Amino acid sequence: MSEAYDLVIIGGGPGGYVAAIRAAQLGLKTAIVEKRGALGGTCLNVGCIPSKALLQSSHHFEVAETEFASHGIKASVSLDLKTMLGRKEKVVQDLTQGVEFLMKKNKVDYVIGEGQITQPGEVTVKPAKKGGKKQILKTQNIIIATGSDVAPLPGVAIDEKQIVSSTGALSLGQVPKNLVVVGAGVIGLELGSVWRRLGAKVTVVEFLDHILPGMDGDVSKQMKRTLSKQGMDFKLSTKVTGAKTAAKPGGGVTLTMEPVAGGKKETLKADVVLIAIGRRPFTGGLGLDKIGVEIDERGFVKVDEDFQTNVEGIFAIGDVIGGAMLAHKAEDEGVVCAEIMAGQSGHIDYNTIPGIVYTWPEAASVGKTEEQLKEAGVAFKAGKFPFTANSRARCNADTDGFVKILADATTDAVLGCHIVGPEAGDLIQEVVVAMELSASAEDIARICHGHPGLSEAVKEAALAVDGRAIHI
Ligand code: FAD
Ligand code: NAI
Repeated sequence: MSEAYDLVIIGGGPGGYVAAIRAAQLGLKTAIVEKRGALGGTCLNVGCIPSKALLQSSHHFEVAETEFASHGIKASVSLDLKTMLGRKEKVVQDLTQGVEFLMKKNKVDYVIGEGQITQPGEVTVKPAKKGGKKQILKTQNIIIATGSDVAPLPGVAIDEKQIVSSTGALSLGQVPKNLVVVGAGVIGLELGSVWRRLGAKVTVVEFLDHILPGMDGDVSKQMKRTLSKQGMDFKLSTKVTGAKTAAKPGGGVTLTMEPVAGGKKETLKADVVLIAIGRRPFTGGLGLDKIGVEIDERGFVKVDEDFQTNVEGIFAIGDVIGGAMLAHKAEDEGVVCAEIMAGQSGHIDYNTIPGIVYTWPEAASVGKTEEQLKEAGVAFKAGKFPFTANSRARCNADTDGFVKILADATTDAVLGCHIVGPEAGDLIQEVVVAMELSASAEDIARICHGHPGLSEAVKEAALAVDGRAIHI
């Protein structure tokens, strides 16, 4: 088959499918090529969505087990893991089918199979099924949106049964007695929380001397305190050097590890080990070397500010180009890339992309951390407000955490916000808007916030920047 398109997108994740919709809205004849058999990419199939479905279910389970009694509710609680996993699958299926519907609605051709760029302006699609026909799609422009894949730990083979990646950890058939998580990043803490809530003893082994690298130091410290209180164990400054699976099926895994600074080796036994040490760009099978698309030393596709690679007519967006590996970042790049292609101008302010960790409490961040401002020599004021002093948090019995706002010492412009607390991921959005509109801390402090509301903690932190919080 030979088709002429304005745009062919390879990869149907949040970057690719959002770019497809925006391109179609702008009148571009568009096709999207996806090999996994479902749209939505990592995010909808094995990432954001199934993890958040399990986080919600396991949170309900823990609250019912440990907090209902204090509210005067008597209930006997037991776990039906099969139903919990089935519900997660259903959420994934509904949403991925929803994306397929959006393709139809926007008249985007959805081509199932593995796409290869055989020459600029040509994508060859290998059929997903045996006996299927190879398709050649002729096109003006191509967007590479092939995302990322699990970063392996050298010397440790992932079997997705006993040594699992995030994908395996989303579908464990039973709650492990002992789960060891390698990596105290976002995946480690979110999926570690899921299985701890359901009954696993969770130990997180982290190379660095702190958890959640890249987040504000206060957030990292508070999260470690809170998660430890919840029963998660941390072994920091520790390097995993190997993992051996017992010969007997289901016989567990023995991990060997040593202090990063050097010293005595030790071993740790686990029923299941989750490797969560980051993700790496995925460009396998695209044929980039043959057509000369440049990638950097870490494998990310190199692009300019218009998402154009070094080969004319070939663009790239999302996880595969690096930066924050987040679905909303990929989506925004998809929109802007399509708009630029259609002759419009576009721009993304990477400083105002929020990052959220969906544990309970949640952790959320936007803009600069205190450490970054100090390093850059920027004079700033910090306003901090604890959820213990927020009336709604007290009603809800969710008082762990704080809101911290960082503002320029001279202009009062908001430079960053860091929250640990209930619904932090939603609360941060107010500060994202404020920063996009170049607001000052005073601007946030002067806005009326509904009472009793968690967002009053944001207002109080803004007031605290000027030393005039009301409720502390
Ligand atoms: P992807 O979503 O990875 O999509 C790329 C697609 O391209 C894949 O479907 C792949 O099959 C397809 N593909 C690759 N090569 C080819 C080819 N040659 N031909 C055809 N198809 C191809 N981010 C958040 O913002 N919030 C979260 O809560 C969150 N939770 C996460 C939880 C987990 C467990 C994981 C693993 C990730 C999470 N992320 C989260 C990150 C998020 O999933 C990614 O940032 C996002 O999916 C990146 O989108 P993308 O479109 O760039 O790539
Ligand atoms: P990450 O980069 O967040 O964390 C990896 C952690 O592993 C780091 O703390 C690192 O120091 C540690 N580490 C690396 N090598 C190690 C080793 N050998 N031994 C011990 N520790 C080691 O990566 P993670 O958690 O795998 O997530 C991947 C990506 O997925 C992230 O970039 C994140 O943006 C995205 N994601 C986003 C979510 C969200 O937005 N809520 C949820 C889950 C994933």
